[in-house]
Amino acid sequence: MGGGFAVGSVILLGGDPGIGKSTLLLQTMDKLSKSSKVLYITGEESVQQVAIRAQRLGIIGNENLLLMAEIGLKTILQMIESKEPQIVVIDSIQTMYTEMLQSAPGSVAQVRECASMLTRIAKQKNITIIMIGHVTKDGSIAGPRVLEHIVDAVLYFEGDQHSNYRMIRSIKNRFGAVNELGIFAMTDKGLKEVNNPSALFLSSYRTGVPGSCILITQEGTRPILVEVQALVDNSHIMPPKRLAVGMDNYRLAMLIAIMQRHLNLQLFDQDIFLNIVGGVKVSEPAIDLAVILSIVSSFKNKALAPKLAVFGEVGLSGEIRTVQKGQERIKEGIKLGFEKIIMPKANLPKEKYTDIELIAVSDINQVLQACFN
Ligand code: TYD
Ligand code: MG
Repeated sequence: MGGGFAVGSVILLGGDPGIGKSTLLLQTMDKLSKSSKVLYITGEESVQQVAIRAQRLGIIGNENLLLMAEIGLKTILQMIESKEPQIVVIDSIQTMYTEMLQSAPGSVAQVRECASMLTRIAKQKNITIIMIGHVTKDGSIAGPRVLEHIVDAVLYFEGDQHSNYRMIRSIKNRFGAVNELGIFAMTDKGLKEVNNPSALFLSSYRTGVPGSCILITQEGTRPILVEVQALVDNSHIMPPKRLAVGMDNYRLAMLIAIMQRHLNLQLFDQDIFLNIVGGVKVSEPAIDLAVILSIVSSFKNKALAPKLAVFGEVGLSGEIRTVQKGQERIKEGIKLGFEKIIMPKANLPKEKYTDIELIAVSDINQVLQACFN
């Protein structure tokens, strides 16, 4: 949350069904109930079911952690009135209904009305309310993202079905930094925090392989290292295939155009695939250098130097542009034992680093010279 739950704020936690939203909040509320009074309202499971899960998660429970199975908003509001909790969880907003409307729970009208009534209570009584919202098939919560503008903060819980790792990302936050990222592992005892995500994402990284480049990216307040992989191969169709997983496809197309123009590479008859390992999504422009280097490395079939990490934005005329938080990125690279960082010249820190070689570049041709000569 970029510094905790703000009093009186309303938070929407979105995610696919089964991703672990209830688990995450149950565990979080258990911790918070040591210092605040928490009311957890479940409209999806019975009290017994939640209790069984809580036991499995090792939650002993205390008088400050209240659980209620209910979907009628009127009863819920009465309960809030009488128990005076500081934090309320609504699991999920799609199961709630108010008698004031005719439509069924889960309909846009119901979801919107219930959410605004809860928001009013949160502001009136200075309660923090966390609403769970299932992402529906078209990718929006409760229909057309009806809630995002009502609430103070929007978090998304995402993860790959094939891996145990889950990421929680803040999309909007009126009271803290956005783009924060939390990383958890789903175990048989619930979610466990991953303290060193960089090490996790690099765990299967092999040095000396063409087409791979380590990027130091910045997600919210923390830097993480991720591996960018490219596969470049002769195409048998026109136009050739270009596909990016974990980054914007248009940005990839733009970088390919920059490479053709300023590096004189003949990529027009090449299929180019790009993947960010570990299911991470990078939306910041500092990814550019890593994308270009992994593509050139695959194209030339030459691996980059081991223990090399990069960051930097590339402009349309081939210039390397400054990015935010250069120092933090360098420190994370050092922490993970990297020996060389290629980075924008303007990001070069004044202080000298002795435990890492910083290669400052201002033009994309310098980058290739530093890497492939
Ligand atoms: P859940 O929190 O019920 O998901 P959501 O509320 O987002 O629908 O979690 C569902 C999945 O998490 C379920 O498939 C089983 C798995 N899980 C574990 O692997 N370990 C656990 O300790 C718990 C409680 C759940
Ligand atoms: Mg659930």
